[in-house]
Amino acid sequence: MALKVVVTRRIHTEAVERLRQLFDVVEWESDLPPARAELLDMLNGAAGVLTLLTDRIDGDLLDRVPTLRVVSNLAVGYDNIDVPAATQRGVAVCTTPNVLTRTTAEFTIALLFAVARQIVPGALAARQGDWKTWYPMRFLGRDLLGATIGVVGLGRIGEEVASLAGALGMRVIYTDDRITSQRFQRVALEDLLRESDIVTLHVPLLDSTRGLISDNQLAVMKPDAILLNTARGPVVDTDALLRALERGHLSGVGLDVTDPEPLPADHPLYRFERVTIVPHIASATHATRGKMSALAVENLIAALTGGEPPNCLNPEVLHRG
Ligand code: GLV
Repeated sequence: MALKVVVTRRIHTEAVERLRQLFDVVEWESDLPPARAELLDMLNGAAGVLTLLTDRIDGDLLDRVPTLRVVSNLAVGYDNIDVPAATQRGVAVCTTPNVLTRTTAEFTIALLFAVARQIVPGALAARQGDWKTWYPMRFLGRDLLGATIGVVGLGRIGEEVASLAGALGMRVIYTDDRITSQRFQRVALEDLLRESDIVTLHVPLLDSTRGLISDNQLAVMKPDAILLNTARGPVVDTDALLRALERGHLSGVGLDVTDPEPLPADHPLYRFERVTIVPHIASATHATRGKMSALAVENLIAALTGGEPPNCLNPEVLHRG
């Protein structure tokens, strides 16, 4: 009998078709995530699951689905999964790095331009009939040539953002204890915050990075600095950010990720015209989402058929007798 595999959201048809050739596939037929009880119900008897970053996979869930052998996350981030709990239970955890690096970095630069040049307020004004003439003093932004950009986390995406920013004529500094770059200057976080015109976040969400940017860190940033977050919402303390904005600090903020996420429509962050918020879309191109789906499927198939998944966080569980 074919193994049961669950896909927790509607994703690329070709990717699901590949799974159907090998497994008994149960697909959650919605664009919104299943509730916990629905997820558990679907997972009953499953050997594999293709998850999204909105699905919380913890020890309790894994205990209730003892048949599970692989969790394949359609994301590079995996803070939604308790990896040690999975490893302890012999469950492989796979992710989709590399294929989204450039796309996410390009998006970060797009968000930077949008914030620095007031593209969203300008577009909204035009659409709402608030465009009466050529304004010498409205929608004034800032130039990026020669600006200092501070990259927090020089992993794959951070490094790509640094390269693009360098190519645009920005001075790049970074902070990352794990990485020594030959190309960019490493500084302590506090120095980066103090010196940067733009601070861009590219760290994973860990206990050590939760609330990394809070009152004290925002206070040392230049009053007219721009803050970008395309990493994970909780890396920035939302209340601290609101306090900083309310006292007029920062000239612009670009958020692809928020805490909470999704950010409710009546959230006070939306009150600030200089804050641009988009719904976690940094990897959202047709090509990249297609590649992510294909890789998530490849990981899942390999893990369930005795192969080597291209991106497994705990491959040791695959080789346990
Ligand atoms: C998206 O946020 C991802 O982690 O891939």
